[in-house]
Amino acid sequence: MKINRSIIVALLLGLTSCQKKIEMNQEAWVKGALNIAAYQLELTANELSDSAKLPRSIWAGYDINFLANQLEQSSNSFQNTLLANPSVEIIGKRHLTDIYDWTSGFFPGSLWYAYEMTENEKLKEQAIQYTNLLNPIKSFKDTHDLGFMINCSFGNALRLAPNDSIKNIMVETADNLCARFNPEIGCIRSWDFGHWNFPVIIDNMMNLDLLFNATRLTGDSTYYKVAVKHAQTTMKHHFRPDYTSYHVISYNNDGTIESKGTYQGKNDDSAWSRGQAWGLYGYTSCYRETKDAAFLQEAIHLADMIMKRVTTDDCIPYWDYNAPAGEATPRDASAAAITASALLELSAYAPKEKKYFDYAETILKNLSSDKYLAVKGSNQGFVLMHSTGSLPHGSEIDVPLNYADYYYLEALQRYVNLTK
Ligand code: GLY
Repeated sequence: MKINRSIIVALLLGLTSCQKKIEMNQEAWVKGALNIAAYQLELTANELSDSAKLPRSIWAGYDINFLANQLEQSSNSFQNTLLANPSVEIIGKRHLTDIYDWTSGFFPGSLWYAYEMTENEKLKEQAIQYTNLLNPIKSFKDTHDLGFMINCSFGNALRLAPNDSIKNIMVETADNLCARFNPEIGCIRSWDFGHWNFPVIIDNMMNLDLLFNATRLTGDSTYYKVAVKHAQTTMKHHFRPDYTSYHVISYNNDGTIESKGTYQGKNDDSAWSRGQAWGLYGYTSCYRETKDAAFLQEAIHLADMIMKRVTTDDCIPYWDYNAPAGEATPRDASAAAITASALLELSAYAPKEKKYFDYAETILKNLSSDKYLAVKGSNQGFVLMHSTGSLPHGSEIDVPLNYADYYYLEALQRYVNLTK
């Protein structure tokens, strides 16, 4: 009897330690990733603390023949869209921005996520400092990117260190975003530059969370209604029958279509990788907020399309799904990170949730490998390597990007919450 009990106890211990080992293994890559991310972010925040600047990327140049090859066009046909090559003195250095850049919310947001997962008070102090820098954005009206800027910074502050002034900043910004909504067209205008009459880009789906939050904060359903209408109009016009999306749809004033095309993708009919990820994320958020089955259905179609169309071995897509596949073709780790974050959320809503969770986990494990995750102290303080900003402009090709880091950290946070 005594022996039997010992055997049972030993077996139980054995099982327990085996199970523990699996958990520890799983935790090891998450912990390793988090440790590197927190180190990189804290270091960068310290280095920039007196500058009122935010880190965006690393300056990189381009070779026009390489771009022509990727775009499968002659170099003459895209020469006038190219930005000037950065000077050799700055190549390899950190690319900083001011608060009016569309990416200004991501660095403070990354600090918030890193603080949330590590409970390191220094990261919280830095998150507050960099978030507060963005205070003047509440009166900025020249872009739709206000949601990215304010929801990723102040939106996370509201979750993790709420105070009364945050609400006013978010609501004032939401008012300015709503002022860009045209009821005739049923959309928020994205850009104020370019030749389009009323451009709306798929990225704009990402700004809707700020509006949902504004309704929650004020009880005023106007913001919510604008967000829902924008999502419905976009669902009608932005997607092709195979659920890939155009990047830019421009509307005439009566709501008819002026043009369908791209700005950052390979060509008008291609599937620009980050655009596909923005769409998936946006409709998943819309379902969370509205519980409208049409939005869930759309998110599921987009998730299935992405899982089918990304053909790389590690699920980190090329910069455009229609780019010529090959070793030299730049990847976009930012698209992968956005996709992983969205799929983890979708896995809680969709009937075949396991395949979305598994795919997101594969992305996250691969992004957390040596191939994509920086070594401490390298990569100019960014967390991930190998993203692409805008290849047709010769801009930010195969570099770190602050939004790749942000959505990677958000995905890790979602992963940790789902697996603890
Ligand atoms: N919203 C701009 C981009 O995704 O590059």
